[in-house]
Amino acid sequence: MRALIFLFFILFIFNSSFSKDNQLKLGKQLVYKYNCLSCHDFTQKRTGPSFAEIAKKYGTSEEAVERVAKIIINPPSFMPPFKIPFSQAKAIARYVLTEGSKVKEKEKKVYNEDDYLDLESQFH
Ligand code: HEC
Repeated sequence: MRALIFLFFILFIFNSSFSKDNQLKLGKQLVYKYNCLSCHDFTQKRTGPSFAEIAKKYGTSEEAVERVAKIIINPPSFMPPFKIPFSQAKAIARYVLTEGSKVKEKEKKVYNEDDYLDLESQFH
């Protein structure tokens, strides 16, 4: 019996990470399909805030994914609303927040002080 519960638990974990992976793929496709990148960029502010900024503001929790999904369907003043199914908006939100939070890490790496010290010592 315990083994059976354990098996279901593993299946549950596996299944939920698998479906999140699929959502990320779908989210990426939809971000390009709906042209979010005509107003948003991953790292830099354009007409709208960058995905990095959005991820910083909302985080990457399930709650954040749902909040941002609602924003995409019913956005603040200067963004056109996307009348799409909530499941699609959630996929987009998950992609935007996940990629946005990765940008933060990369930027940190680029501006790591140790890297500069290494670079300088190479040229002096
Ligand atoms: C025509 C330009 C435009 C397009 C296209 C657009 N956005 Fe926006 N977006 C904006 C602007 C401008 C804002 C800031 C609105 C404000 O603060 O009033 C914004 C705000 C947002 C916010 C809220 C940020 C916050 O700080 O609360 C999210 C999330 C967002 N956009 C995601 C998306 C996604 C995802 C797409 C594609 C489905 C998209 N946007 C397409 C212009 C655009």
